[in-house]
Amino acid sequence: MATVQADSKIAIVGSGLIGQFWAMIFAGAGFKVTIFDIYPEQISKALESIKATLLKYESQGCLRGTLSAAKQAALVTGSNELQQCLDGASYVQECVPESVDLKRKVFEQMDPFITEEMVVATSSSCICVSQFADNLRHKHRTLVAHPVNPPYFIPLVEIVPGPWTLPDVTATCRALMELVGQTPVTLSREVAGFALNRIQYAIINECWNMYKANLLSAEDIDRVMTDGLGPRYAFIGPLETMHLNADGIVDYCKRYAQGAYNVCTTFEPPPVLYDVPTAEKILSEVEETIPLDKVVERRAWRDENLAALAALKRNRKDKTD
Ligand SMILES: NC(=O)c1ccc[n+]([C@@H]2O[C@H](COP(=O)([O-])OP(=O)(O)OC[C@H]3O[C@@H](n4cnc5c(N)ncnc54)[C@H](O)[C@@H]3O)[C@@H](O)[C@H]2O)c1
Repeated sequence: MATVQADSKIAIVGSGLIGQFWAMIFAGAGFKVTIFDIYPEQISKALESIKATLLKYESQGCLRGTLSAAKQAALVTGSNELQQCLDGASYVQECVPESVDLKRKVFEQMDPFITEEMVVATSSSCICVSQFADNLRHKHRTLVAHPVNPPYFIPLVEIVPGPWTLPDVTATCRALMELVGQTPVTLSREVAGFALNRIQYAIINECWNMYKANLLSAEDIDRVMTDGLGPRYAFIGPLETMHLNADGIVDYCKRYAQGAYNVCTTFEPPPVLYDVPTAEKILSEVEETIPLDKVVERRAWRDENLAALAALKRNRKDKTD
């Protein structure tokens, strides 16, 4: 398997929210990073924002890696030229807005500068490479590497190869994600919603249906996750939960599968449309604690808590390794 060497250059195409996070993650692991954007003024803004955010993380004690924030920021440079951005890069992470047409356009623009040594990943949340890379000369070097917001504190990356992606490209991407401190999972093939959103939508579907059936308030539904399933799932997944909640997963199935099956027969069939009238009802409840003008503040609070959880998980992993 080819590997991305620690002194390699990483190219980031699109320097908005996710592009900036990727730049900080790669710089945290000591990589040189070049960011490109269609708007030159956005590149300057992104470089400033990356520096300020790294300094903030350093002061909060949640900076990644061993280099100082200043040294990490110095590893990130900008380029107004797509070719210059990709030139000499081992790995490209595309981070332009979520649109099939735009991804197609940007990948076609990148294609002449892609080499047989590069891995070219899209950050796309739900667009598969088969939807836009079919005409590329280097389509076998493309795949999805989908991060979760905020990727600096939520390490999961879903790696989704297209039908033509070389196995070596998928393996190299996975190894790189591990090297920079992310937690990759690899799907064997493309599927709508990848894994995370398929699970997430299954959860939201049931929350939506319970709310519409007047079973619980919006606050109590969220509490089922934050003070019930969520804390457990931060450490063990649903399958390990089955394994631990009985004498192994087979015993769990023998004891509980029929009961679970019976509950599931009472579920509304999917799909569930998250309708605006219900959303407005939920909003009227949620607004009592989080009015719309406090959403930005609440996002920062969420990120601080996720940073603390990430640090806790890191410390506990160090103890158990
Ligand atoms: N925001 C999230 O929570 C999140 C999470 C996971 C994945 N993603 C995915 O990451 C990708 C980027 O999302 P984002 O939230 O960072 O978007 P964003 O709007 O914050 O940033 C997109 C950037 O791309 C630039 N851009 C637009 N057209 C371009 C072009 N032709 N060439 C180069 N740059 C161009 C824009 O100027 C902007 O700076 C999307 O595919 C999105 O689905 C987003």
